[in-house]
Amino acid sequence: MTKPIWIKHAAQLATLASDVKGPRSKEAMSELGLIEDGSLWIEQGVIEAVGTTKELEKRYAERLHEAEVVDATNHLVTPGLVDPHTHVVYGGSREREFEMRLEGATYMDIMNAGGGIHATARMTREATEAELIEQTTRRLDAFFTHGVTTVEGKSGYGMNLETELKQLRVMKKLQEQHMIDLVPTFMGAHAVPPEYKGREDEFVDHLINDMLPVIAEEKLAEFNDVFCEKGVFTPEQSERILEAGKRFGLIPKIHADEIESYGGAELAAKIGSISAEHLLKASEAGIKEMAKSGTIACLLPATALYLREEAAAGRKMIDEGVAVAISTDCNPGSSPTTSMPLVMNLACISMRLTPAEALTAATYNAACAINRQEKVGSLEVGKQADIVLWNVKNYQELQYLFGVNHVKSVWKKGVKVV
Ligand code: NIG
Ligand code: FE
Repeated sequence: MTKPIWIKHAAQLATLASDVKGPRSKEAMSELGLIEDGSLWIEQGVIEAVGTTKELEKRYAERLHEAEVVDATNHLVTPGLVDPHTHVVYGGSREREFEMRLEGATYMDIMNAGGGIHATARMTREATEAELIEQTTRRLDAFFTHGVTTVEGKSGYGMNLETELKQLRVMKKLQEQHMIDLVPTFMGAHAVPPEYKGREDEFVDHLINDMLPVIAEEKLAEFNDVFCEKGVFTPEQSERILEAGKRFGLIPKIHADEIESYGGAELAAKIGSISAEHLLKASEAGIKEMAKSGTIACLLPATALYLREEAAAGRKMIDEGVAVAISTDCNPGSSPTTSMPLVMNLACISMRLTPAEALTAATYNAACAINRQEKVGSLEVGKQADIVLWNVKNYQELQYLFGVNHVKSVWKKGVKVV
């Protein structure tokens, strides 16, 4: 039996508790469930009580001496951050492409010339499972350092069965070996591999007939994602892939309208995708349809910045009633970062989310985008004790002092990992 943990005197405890269950939009994104002089009691990795320090002192009067005490005076305490969109398992790196883009090449120019996703696919195909585990472990450790306690991860740097399976099996092993929660997504449709160039529909058939059944049989993924983009997969091909995934119990996600407006947001709403990602160029109609269907917009402002593009219309989406989540998009090309705090800063600066909305987008709504809202994303009784203690005193300061990692301590299921 491990000792209970008693966190007391938090200057501000942002619980993110709310009566709104499910993805939050509009005013609900500003409900942080704040408690001044806040306190948490953690028992066996689970939150057992949340309240003011006085309330918990009274309730646990007989047991206070048993607990490991954390004095959070002058500190903000929040739920562990959730990153609902990453490509964290990959081989190699692509720093030369960063230079090429600064010299004028575009993301798509590089990809069409065999670089980009194709370059990482070559390096990931070559990497052994052990190498991928070693590299990904370092990135997952870095997520912890930045206050992130749950991470979604996509395959998609194989685009052949062998390497897609290798990436997903690496994620499965890491779920067993690493303290972080890693949520797996199959993204065989990340690009059309060179061996299928000019035979795109055949690749789609191959993915549906030969890859999906094996992934489902081995229970290697919960979600199915597609890069729906001009020159990659059309909305029709994307729909086929996502509908096929549904038949295997995989929940659809979609990289939509990142480079060009291509009907991705509309498709996400039509097929009942849990989320649509990027959305830099989402149409007005697409945004309205997402609001109606309850599709979460998973926005990636670090990617927009890194590609020197205008960020998605986060402010407008929230005002129109779309629930917004945010994510690093951690990948070796368009967003090589593990910093969710930076992403929160950018959500405010480049998409005009308020500091409160940015925190909701990085916790509760992010958890909803990967179907984990019953376990993580808020500090409520019965939920996992995934907690961050910050070197700032309130949530506004967290977003205001930007580009700095304010993490002081992190607990994952009640175990101190930072
Ligand atoms: O979400 N846009 C497509 N996929 C990734 C980038 C992957 C890469 O460049 O390696 C993204 O930005
Ligand atoms: Fe992505």
